[in-house]
This record gives sequence, structure tokens and C-alpha cells, in this order.
Amino acid sequence: MKPERNKTLKINQSVNNADVPLRSTPWPVWPIYGESEKKAVLRVIESNQLFAADEVREFEKNFASYIGVKHAKGLGNATQGLHLALAALGIGVGDEVIVTPYSWISSASCVLMQNAVPIFADIENKTYGLSAEAIEEKITDRTKAIILVHMFGYPADIKGVSDIAKKNDLYLIEDASHAFGAEYHDRKIGSFGDISVFSCHQRKAICCGDAGLVVTDKDELDQSIYRLRSFGDSELSYNYRMTEFAAAIGRVRLENLDGENEIRKENALLMDQFLDNISVVKTKKTIEGTKGVYYRLLFEYNNEIIQLSLDEFIEQLRAEGIPFSKTWEPLHLHPHFNPVHDPARGCPWKWPLYKGTTMKNLNYRDISLPVAEEYCFNKIFELPIHPPVGVKDIYQAAEAIKKVINKHS
Ligand SMILES: Cc1ncc(COP(=O)(O)O)c(C=O)c1O
Repeated sequence: MKPERNKTLKINQSVNNADVPLRSTPWPVWPIYGESEKKAVLRVIESNQLFAADEVREFEKNFASYIGVKHAKGLGNATQGLHLALAALGIGVGDEVIVTPYSWISSASCVLMQNAVPIFADIENKTYGLSAEAIEEKITDRTKAIILVHMFGYPADIKGVSDIAKKNDLYLIEDASHAFGAEYHDRKIGSFGDISVFSCHQRKAICCGDAGLVVTDKDELDQSIYRLRSFGDSELSYNYRMTEFAAAIGRVRLENLDGENEIRKENALLMDQFLDNISVVKTKKTIEGTKGVYYRLLFEYNNEIIQLSLDEFIEQLRAEGIPFSKTWEPLHLHPHFNPVHDPARGCPWKWPLYKGTTMKNLNYRDISLPVAEEYCFNKIFELPIHPPVGVKDIYQAAEAIKKVINKHS
């Protein structure tokens, strides 16, 4: 269901007054929970069963059918999902998994959880996802899998990456945490991986507080995830279950998803219209044949035609009262991959194979990933455009961009 919204734009402000910020009210909040979620939570209380029952099963069934796969399993969060995906695929000590430097930490740190070796490959600027070419250069006889992230709801190069996975007999895991409802050639993101993972964290498009989903078409992987999810089986397993509360809220949010995604898309198109083809800032477009869902609207900043660093530019935008921000720093620079003290797990740092050989004592910081570094630090910035964000909000955000650029032209 698509929420109602006012599509008329009334502007009665002087947008070019340099001394007055364009906006003094807070940016609309996401998410907002309503009557349907209240009813859903009450239903759980009244059922007297707060975990692993009908709500979780129903949410899993509906979600699998929405993505177009056979199975879904509800978990406590997507980090658990990524960990279990690797465990279910049998990835362990010394196995290499190719990961992106541009994502949330879990998309790469999950590999350390299995005592395996994250191998960072560079991203491509078309999608900000892993570059198929860069992946190919990193494959060794120890490579077992690729984790492909669809950043901020912009589909990555699935064909390029899955062709390489097939050719080299590697598993493909999709991290679709940002990409609920996104499509690649009319198929839902999350239906391409051997296993795919979604985050239902409070800030995500299906927002249940804290929860995650793992989907797969393969019966044996689904069964393996099922066994690994709960303590008590004969093999080493975890306590990674979804609560009934999260599932009950998730069911409501799944029903709203397509309507809310339409609004995100409308907002993205409006931003383009209001920016009116300026050269310093462009909204990021999704690649041909795909449908993006704009978990965040991304912008590309052309730092070659304006004498202002991205940090300075963002600071000035924020002074206009709009919450633009940079996104994330490249993960290979993160302390998790450059531990000063003894790492919690031995592999890869203490593994003889890697000592002083393949990766210069595994100082991940020294790896060269020029596209990720240039784009993360100097080019990409974002704005949340979830449904409560309306036409006037987008207009003001576009005006803020133009105002700051004009000041420096
Ligand atoms: C791309 C990506 N993958 C995985 C996660 C982990 O999600 P969760 O918080 O549900 O563990 C996040 C969280 O922000 C994310 O952005």
C-alpha cells in the first residue's frame, strides 16, 4: 500500500539568502510505526508465545514468496545471517572469500567469524558494488565464495559477478540488506545468490527493530541454516533466532514495502528534476535493466570542478539544515582488519600460509583499492529519502546543493 502524500509544492521562502539556513525543522523521521504494528505486537502478547512460532513462520513464507525463492529463515539480524550463510556453505579455516571494501563492516567481518580469510577486491564506479574484473584478479585455489553487496539499494553487476562465480566454481552470497524489492532484469535481488541475506534493522526498509532474513532456493542449504540457527543440534550451532514480535512487525512492513519503494523512487526522480542538470553534483543512477530502491539516495560529487573538498561541501550543506552525509570509509582500513593487539581469531593473521607472504603480513591497510578509496573519501554522499520525506523536503535539499555550489562558483 502506498502512503498518501501531498504532491503540491508551496514555496514561500527566499532561497538565496546566504545568511539564513534553508531549513530549520528536523528532517522527517524513518520509520514511523502505526496502528497495524500495534495490533501485530498485541497479537503476539495475546498468543503467549514470543519466539519461533506462527508469526515467524508466516513472515518467512510471505518473504520467500515475495523474493521468488523456495525458502526464507528468520534470524536475529543480518550479521548472524552472513555468518550462518558461510557456515552453511562449509567455509572455514583458510578458505578465502572475496568481499567488498564498500559496505557495512559485517559484510566482511563475517568471514573472520568462520576463521576464514576476507580478500578485498575493488568496486566499480557504475554500481559501487564489486567489480567483476577486480574479483577475477583475486581468485586463488583457496577462494570459495564471493559476497556481493547491493549498496544502498542500487543493484550490483549480478551477471558479471555470477558468471565469474560459475566459471570458478565459487558460491555467491548476496548481501541484500539495503535492497528489499530491488530488481535485476525483472528478478528480485536476493534470488540470485546460493544464499542471500537481508537486514531488518530499525533503519532498514523492512524495519523490525533488530532482525534478519536468509533466503535460498536450495533445500539442503535451508535445512543447514535451520539447524545452525538454534542451539541443541548435534553439530555446533548458534542461538540466532527471530522473535515473534519482530516477525509480526515484519509482516506489516512487507505489505507496505512496494508502496514505500515507489515513494523513494519518486523522491529520487524529483531530486533530479530540482537539481536541473548541474554539473558538480549528480544523483547516482541505477544500471540499465535494474530497479533500484534508494534505501539512501546517493550523489556523486565532482571535486574536480569546484574548489571544495567533499567534507567541506557536506559541512556547508548541513549548515543549511539538511542531513546530507558521507557514507562509509573503505573497510580494508578498519581496525578489525588491521588489529594492533592479538586478533580474537587466529586466521588469517596467525596462519603460516599468510605470514609474510601473500599479503605482506596481512596488513590489509596496504592493499590498493583505488576506486573504493577515491569514491568513499571524495565523491559519494547520501540523503535519506524514505516515505515521510515529501516534495518540499526534496526541493529544499536540492536548493541547498545549488546554494552552496553558487557560493563557490
Ligand atoms: C550492507 C549491510 N550488510 C549487513 C548489515 C548488518 O545488518 P544487521 O544490523 O541486521 O546485523 C548491515 C547493517 O547496516 C548492512 O548495511
